[in-house]
Formats: sequence, C-alpha cells, structure tokens
Amino acid sequence: MASSQKTYALVGCGGRGLYMYITAIVKNFQKTARLVGLCDVNQGRMDYCNRSLQTNIPTFTDFDQMMKQARPDVVIVTTKDSMHHEFILRAFEHGCDAISEKPMTIDDGKCRAILAAEKKTGRKVTVTFNYRFAPYVTKIRELIAQGAIGRVLSVDFDYKLNRSHGADYFRRWHRRKENSGGLLVHKSTHHFDLVNWWIGQEPVEVFALGSRQFYGPTRKERGERCLTCDHKKTCEFYFDINAPVDAGTMIFEFGELYAKVEQYDGYFRDRCVFSDDINIEDTMNLTVRYSGGTQMSYSLNAHCTYEGWKIAFNGTEGRLEAAEGHGGPFVPSDTQNIVVHRWNKPSETIPVTAELYDHGGGDHRLLNMLFDGPRPDPLGHMATSHAGAMSILTGIAANHSIAEGRPIEISRLLRG
Ligand SMILES: NC(=O)c1ccc[n+]([C@@H]2O[C@H](COP(=O)([O-])OP(=O)(O)OC[C@H]3O[C@@H](n4cnc5c(N)ncnc54)[C@H](O)[C@@H]3O)[C@@H](O)[C@H]2O)c1
Repeated sequence: MASSQKTYALVGCGGRGLYMYITAIVKNFQKTARLVGLCDVNQGRMDYCNRSLQTNIPTFTDFDQMMKQARPDVVIVTTKDSMHHEFILRAFEHGCDAISEKPMTIDDGKCRAILAAEKKTGRKVTVTFNYRFAPYVTKIRELIAQGAIGRVLSVDFDYKLNRSHGADYFRRWHRRKENSGGLLVHKSTHHFDLVNWWIGQEPVEVFALGSRQFYGPTRKERGERCLTCDHKKTCEFYFDINAPVDAGTMIFEFGELYAKVEQYDGYFRDRCVFSDDINIEDTMNLTVRYSGGTQMSYSLNAHCTYEGWKIAFNGTEGRLEAAEGHGGPFVPSDTQNIVVHRWNKPSETIPVTAELYDHGGGDHRLLNMLFDGPRPDPLGHMATSHAGAMSILTGIAANHSIAEGRPIEISRLLRG
C-alpha cells in the first residue's frame, strides 16, 4: 500500500454507495484512497459491486466485524437515512471519523446523539452536501457574500419534483417517514443547507403545513409493485426495474443492483406509488425565521409536471433571482443565468456555464475535496456536523410543526 493512501470502509452499497463513492475510489483516486471493506445487509448487492468493478474488496454483513478486520481510517456511510446515526456512532467507537451522505440523520434525538458523541470522542463527521459544489449555486454564494444585494431580508424558494424523479421517492424506502424523515428531511436537507450557506445564517423558528394529496391510495388501478402489476401497460408511473438508466456519466444497472438480489433482503425498489403503505407528504409549505432576521417562504411539491427550482433573495440593496431546470422545458443548454436587480440601476445578468450531469457538477468537485485534499476552501464548501444538523433541523422542525400544528423553535430540538 502506498503510504499516502487513506483507507476507507463503506456501509450501504446501494445506488449512491456504488455509483458515487465506490466507483470513484476504485477508478479515480487510487493514489490517495483505498477501500478495505464493504458492508451491507444484502450480500448479493455487495457481490454485484465487486463484480461490476472487477474488484475483490472484502465484504461484510456485520459492521463491527468489518471494523475489527479491515481497520479503516475513515468510514463512509451511504445506507438509508435512518441508519446513518447508527454507523456514525459506531465508527466513532472504533476510533474512526465518518463521512456521511445527506441527511446526517432523520430526527432531533439522533441528531443530538451524533453531536454529543463527537464532543465525547473527539471524532468528527463530514456531511457530503454535493449541491454546494455545483458552480451555479457556488456563484450565488459568492454574489451574496460580496454584498451584491446587501443584507438579505427575505427569501422565496420554490422547489418542484416531477412525476418521474419525484414519484421515485414514493416507490422506495423513502416513502416511510421512519426511514427518511419524509421529503422535508431527505430531500430538503439540500435546500435548507444551501439557504443557510448562501445567507450565512441559521434557522431559528419554523412553521409548516404538509399533506399527501397525489400519491398514496388515490386511485383504484394499483398493485404491490410495477414488476408484477396488472396495470403496467396503462399506468404512466410504470417503472421497469430491469431497464438500465442512463445517468449521463454512467449507466445505472438497477436490475443487477436491486431486482436480481431481492432474495437477500426482500427489498422491492419498484413498489406502487399509489399504495396504502406510504406515510410521507407530497405537498409542503414552510415559513422559516433565521438568526439574522431573514424570513423565508419555501415550498416543495413532488408531483409537478416539470422539475427544478426558483429562488429570489430580497436584500437591502437589491434582489437576486436564480432558477434551475432539471427536466421538462427548462433544462439549460449551455448557460444558466443569475439576475441581480439593484435599486435605480440597470439589472445585471450573470451567466454561469451549465453542467448537466453529476448533480450540476457538484459530485466530482466534492469527490476531489474528499479524496484528493485538503484543497483550499475559501467559500466553505465542506460541511461539518453543525451544518449537517442545521440543515436537517429545519425539516425536522417542520415535521414537528405539521404534527403539532404550531411553530417550532430550533433551540427546543437542540435541547431535547
Ligand atoms: N447527495 C446526493 O445527491 C444523494 C443522491 C442519492 C442518494 N443519496 C443518499 O445516499 C444514501 C443511500 O441512498 P441510495 O439511493 O443509494 O439508496 P439505496 O437503497 O440504493 O442504498 C442503500 C443501501 O443501504 C443498505 N442498508 C440499509 N440498511 C442497512 C443496514 N442496517 N446495514 C447495512 N446496510 C444497510 C441497503 O441494503 C442498500 O444497499 C441515502 O442517505 C441518500 O440520502 C444522496
């Protein structure tokens, strides 16, 4: 082993584990990183990871056994969201730092446990907010930090998931709140993190409304899963689990990764989006108050006809508008614009070169930082557990607010 190599063990060998981290370490970061163990409840999925990359990384279904045998420097956590805290804490116990996919965890109790364990053990968790690294959102951070619109007083943020990507959350483990925290944690952690980062403030109080109006038992023509459904020929939500998915930079072989290894864990990745079993919301609206006095209105809808987001920041010196399309009519071809309107001055349009794959160009920049660092980080792209906590606590507060019908203070969740 080259002495400059750090060793990594990864737990959670699904889509994100394989197509983001395992593939990158094996193919692009051999000089600085080496995988010494893979862990998952599904042995078949780990075997496919090794087979598809022609590697022979040791595999384990028991995390502690992996830690004892493989003795990694760092643990990468890419399991379903509700298990992140478990493996972060256990990595600390084994004397390792952790890298966790977003969201850091799904509720306030688990969040407090991670923050307390960091203090107690002196270990740390890095939360991988890839979206921060996309050039378009980085430019927004730069402009606001430079004072392009003065002090930010309010934010309007509208996020739309379409009936392909949005619907997919209602097929998989994400559809149960106890697995994902719902979309306000699982998905919005990205958006709330960006807002915290963009405006340099933290959330203080949250009020939310949320309902499930589109998915769930809203139609008669439904089944257990797409693979065996009687309505597959007519349902516009039919998902062929065996069809490879072209993700732009690589092909995702969901048939191999999920369908062909179901016998190991009974997990169906193509459950019906109209089933009774779904307990997350698909229609959500929030108002948020921040530490510097900024107010935000935010909406997330998971059943839109096209996908993307639109944001406006109103500041003491002007207004900044940005929008990104991920599918449907607004996918950018070569540039994405940010528009700054200043009081009594001509508006300015700032073009940013569009990157269509790789989460807006965020993934490979994040990977470089993680596995080929340390690199200069003047805008603070790398996120600690504190940023991880502040981003999920907005969504967690929103979940409490929806359940309790009143505004929730973030400090209450941090105190417990
Ligand atoms: N940042 C991003 O853009 C991005 C994109 C996709 C996913 N993610 C995150 O990556 C994580 C994984 O998502 P995914 O889409 O790969 O899901 P997935 O279902 O494809 O993979 C999850 C894997 O975790 C394994 N697992 C579940 N419970 C486990 C346990 N107790 N012990 C060991 N393994 C366990 C499953 O068997 C599966 O292989 C999630 O936290 C998700 O939020 C992030």
